[in-house]
Amino acid sequence: MNIPVIETQSLTKTYGATMALADVNIAVQRGESVAIMGASGSGKTTLLHTLAGITAPDSGKVTFTPAAGGAVEVTAKNERERSRLRRESFGFVFQQGLLIPELTAVENIALAMMINGSARKAALEHASGWMASLGLAGLEERRIGELSGGQAQRVAIARAQVTGAELVFADEPTGALDSRTSGEVMDALIWSSTGQGRTLLVVTHDPDVAARCSRTVHVRDGSVVDAAVPA
Ligand SMILES: Nc1ncnc2c1ncn2[C@@H]1O[C@H](COP(=O)(O)OP(=O)(O)OP(=O)(O)O)[C@@H](O)[C@H]1O
Ligand SMILES: [Mg+2]
Repeated sequence: MNIPVIETQSLTKTYGATMALADVNIAVQRGESVAIMGASGSGKTTLLHTLAGITAPDSGKVTFTPAAGGAVEVTAKNERERSRLRRESFGFVFQQGLLIPELTAVENIALAMMINGSARKAALEHASGWMASLGLAGLEERRIGELSGGQAQRVAIARAQVTGAELVFADEPTGALDSRTSGEVMDALIWSSTGQGRTLLVVTHDPDVAARCSRTVHVRDGSVVDAAVPA
């Protein structure tokens, strides 16, 4: 039996009277791409943030098992340990890339490695390699404001991958893009994650985005209503 790269046990999270997560149990296998869909306010972002150790649940467990083995109970870690786990093992792509406008494209990507202790030169070289792989060669020295929306999202994808993150979390990564650009960005996201043996969890409202993933998990009122694992 394969050990899931990430799984939850009875996750709950309330905000006042709002049940943002109601007894969520899911397991994701290494190499899967999982789309998380559901109405606005259904709990998708809360679920993603809880899996990634950004948000602490009221109760329940999140377990991450890296490829090297040795299960890590994310929910038992303190804030500092979770921050380190996010930096070293997880990658993030948000709707607006949250890139640093004062830095160039290649510096934005390299920064993720430098924070983890890489030397500047090696980080910049590695970042350039990722830019080339994602069709961004020649744009290294542009500032973020000088890129198109789709190019900026591919920079954000490169930043999420450059550290070697095993698990990539994306929250509506194509939410601000037209459908053609959205397709290109999703191709880049899928290729750079599951195409490299990594695992992708992507929150989306777009059925075309979900169709590119290996399966879809539906969330309603804080509950996972359909997380069918493919036979
Ligand atoms: N920090 C917070 N404080 C209070 N309520 C919150 C907080 N974060 C989320 N909620 C509430 O929890 C519920 C789930 O929110 P969440 O952001 O997970 O929804 P979502 O499915 O991601 O929605 P959207 O598609 O609009 O992004 C909502 O009712 C939201 O208002
Ligand atoms: Mg959300």
